[in-house]
Amino acid sequence: MPKTSPKTQLVDAAIAAMETAVAPHSQFKVGAALLTKSGLVITGANVESASYGLTCCAERVALFKALTAGERHFVAVAVVARDEGGPMPCGACRQLLAEYAPQAKVWVADCKFPRRIRTYSVKRLLPEPFLLLT
Ligand code: THU
Repeated sequence: MPKTSPKTQLVDAAIAAMETAVAPHSQFKVGAALLTKSGLVITGANVESASYGLTCCAERVALFKALTAGERHFVAVAVVARDEGGPMPCGACRQLLAEYAPQAKVWVADCKFPRRIRTYSVKRLLPEPFLLLT
């Protein structure tokens, strides 16, 4: 049996997380999974509000979970949904990824074709992020 690659494993974790989405308004479930440098996988899914603007995307749920668990170094993030080609992270998520996971590979897949994975860099998704000098 061939061993599954980290990419495949992370996409599979994102697909499992997708099922935990709370999306009563759009019915559009999104799953995300972050791989930390230490090898941990931290997942998230979108959570919607009746006050639509309060909705939180899967990527940010995963990132906030990871950051508040003390994780700071990310190798990759997988994002999946049922749409063709997979869901591209929204602008807000791109900003947060640029701030906290600038080196992460972004793996995007459609859950119907989980082995067709597109790879992006955070830099490509948001070439000129707003960053505060620290
Ligand atoms: N959504 C995500 O979870 N990630 C994205 O990058 C784009 C959109 C969610 C938010 C909302 O719950 C649903 O998709 C429809 O917009």
